[in-house]
Parts: sequence; structure tokens; C-alpha cells
Amino acid sequence: MNFRRTRPQQLIAIGSVTIFICVYSVTWPSGILNQKEDQDASPATLSAVQEHLNIVRYADMVRWGRNNQTSSSFWASSILSDDRRIYFHETTGRDHLNLRQLCAVESTAKENPSRSVQIFFQTDHVNVTSAPFELVLKTYPNIAVLLINAKDYFTATPLERWYSRGVWRKSPYKTEHFSDYIRILSSFKGGGMYMDLDFVTLKPLDADIFRNFVPEEDNAVLTGSSFHFEKGHPIVRKIMTYLASSYRPKEWAHSGPAMMQSVVLKYCRKKLPEPTYPLFLCPEIKVLPKKYLYPYTFADWKRLFVTNVSSSDPIFESYAVHTYNKLSKNEPVLVGSDQLYSQIARVHCPVTYAHALTDLEVDFF
Ligand SMILES: *[C@@H]1O[C@H](CO)[C@@H](O)[C@H](O)[C@H]1NC(C)=O
Ligand SMILES: *[C@@H]1O[C@H](CO)[C@@H](O)[C@H](O)[C@H]1NC(C)=O
Ligand SMILES: *[C@@H]1O[C@H](CO)[C@@H](O)[C@H](O)[C@H]1NC(C)=O
Repeated sequence: MNFRRTRPQQLIAIGSVTIFICVYSVTWPSGILNQKEDQDASPATLSAVQEHLNIVRYADMVRWGRNNQTSSSFWASSILSDDRRIYFHETTGRDHLNLRQLCAVESTAKENPSRSVQIFFQTDHVNVTSAPFELVLKTYPNIAVLLINAKDYFTATPLERWYSRGVWRKSPYKTEHFSDYIRILSSFKGGGMYMDLDFVTLKPLDADIFRNFVPEEDNAVLTGSSFHFEKGHPIVRKIMTYLASSYRPKEWAHSGPAMMQSVVLKYCRKKLPEPTYPLFLCPEIKVLPKKYLYPYTFADWKRLFVTNVSSSDPIFESYAVHTYNKLSKNEPVLVGSDQLYSQIARVHCPVTYAHALTDLEVDFF
């Protein structure tokens, strides 16, 4: 692979990003975090660097959202509740993202510059010096990092009891189940589109197509690894009720894919999704055929690592690709190679990719 070939593209990307930042800074009030408008502010304030990078405490946003008289309330309320937002959750408790996760966030922000892209952490800080996180945040002002305290986040919601009883903490699938719950809780609180951190976004996610949907991962198999529900959608209440009343710590899929399948089919009064793709399973929810976000099934994950991709490959039609991190994480993405994953990363998460390319210690990720 010729490394130099990527340089002009990077320069164009950096140039257009610079213009974009100039335009954006007019509409995206970044200075609001310096305003001392609430005397009850939490004792430790975030550093100036973090404030500058749209790294905010969720609790501060809630307070600003309630405080309706300030210029920041618009920003705060659009952070808290926005059907157009696209959000991710880091659920292992780490204070940074690895390169593949960063590629998921970067590619989504790059392809959807007019939408708020939010990444939730359960820490009270993030380590932006863990490169190239800071550069990604600087490059894409539509990314917001939200720091939550999980206990507070669940408090006074229908899932509070599930969280505080803590049976899930002893589950072998503790992290997965926590992730199943918190992604729905965020939907309940603020709506929007959820994605797992093992996607690469390839095209702008058309807000009409990706609206009130549950995806099919394989023929007639639904999944919870991405979805969109507008705030207040009745199915979200059904899902909340299901999660609050039915928890099986020993079953990996019970509160994830199995829950989606069960709740959606019941809601739509169907026995099974039709294999013949009715786009609309029922009036208020659509089941998106796998070609939109899942060009490869679970069993086909290795296709991301081959170099001989045919021009009729389904990835060229897809809006994003799910990379099945659980299976693919130990397969190296060779930087500068013609592997499909490497090719799409170079184009769709150029900042993350350029870091891997120029840092001599990293020739794969
Ligand atoms: C907040 O501000 C909006 C627009 O200025 C206004 O319509 C709304 O009534 C206000 N809400 C409260 C609770 O003051
Ligand atoms: C942040 O990450 C860098 C690079 O991985 C590491 O050297 C540093 O110790 C971390 N800082 C903190 C405060 O954890
Ligand atoms: C790519 O190569 C593999 C193994 O060499 C082969 O099985 C596969 O059919 C090839 N795919 C395409 C699209 O040519």
C-alpha cells in the first residue's frame, strides 16, 4: 500500500474541517461552559481544556436545561433530548476509547456533521492525552463527551431498582447487560439513534430512513446493536417495563437481542418478522433490512479483513458496517494494507487512521 497516496486526501480533510470549525463555532456555542450561572455547581469544575472540547458532565447539563433563562439552555436541552442525536456508550468504565471505538465515533461525526454525536462515559474525566482522542474532538465540534454517574443516571427512572438491587453485578455478562439497560435508558431520557462502538459509518445516516427503527442483523433476526426511537415513543415504555420486570443474569441475550425480538413482535402483533422484508412491520416502528447497517452477518465477520472485495459487495450499498468486535477484536487491522477494514477506516475515520499510520509504534489496530 502506498502511504503517500493518502496525504492529499488528509490535507483536503483538514482544510475542510478548518472551514467547518469556523462556520460551526458561530452556531455551536462552545463558550457557555465558562458561564457561572449556577451557584450550586459541583465543587470540582472540569479543566479549561476539557470544557473546550465539549466534554461536559451530564449533571451540569441537567441543571442548565432546567435553568431556562440562559443562552446555554438551548445547548443543554439539545444535549439532553434530541431525536437527531446519535449516541454511544462506553460501558466498561474506561476513561478513553481504543482506536476502533474512536473510528466508530469519528466516522459517525464525519458523515453527519450537522448532528450531535454523543459519547457517554461513566467516569468523572476522560483521558484525552490518550492519542488521538483529543485531535478527534478538536476536529469534529459536533462530538460531545458526556460524563455520567451511573447511579444518578438510573435514579428516579423505572430502571432504578434494577440498578440498585445489583443482581446484574454478579452476572457473567455484567458489562453486556449494563450496556443493554443504559442504551435504552438514554433513549427513554432523550431519544435519538443509538449505535454500538463497533460500527464504521460509511454515509450520512438519513434521518428519515433511520427513524423509529429496529434493525435486522440476519434474516428474521433482530438486534439491539443500533436503533432509533423518538423521545416518548410508546415502545420505549414497553421496553422499559420489560427490562424492569424481567432480568435473567445468566442469559447473555435476554435483555439485548432477545428482548428486541420479543418486544417488537408483541408490540406489532406479529409472530416473526417476514423474511420477505416488509419495511414496515407495524405503523410506528420499522424493521430495517440488514442491507442498511449490517452488510455482513455475524458468521461473515471475516469479510472485513480480506483484500479481494468484489465491486458488487453489499458493503458498497450500506450506510454503515457492524464489525462484530466480540469476534473480530483479535484480528489485526493492518494500517496501510488493502484489507477492507483498513480501506474504509482510511476514508471514514482519517484522523484516527492517520494517527495509527504516523505513530511508528502502531502499525495495526
Ligand atoms: C422556556 O423558554 C421557552 C422559550 O423561551 C418558553 O416557551 C418556555 O415556556 C420556558 N419554560 C419554562 C419552564 O420557563
Ligand atoms: C492518559 O493516557 C496516557 C497514554 O495512554 C497515559 O500515559 C497517561 O498516564 C494517562 N493519564 C491518566 C491520568 O490516566
Ligand atoms: C477472495 O479470496 C478468497 C480466498 O482466496 C475466496 O474464497 C473468495 O471467493 C474471494 N472473493 C472474491 C470476491 O473474489
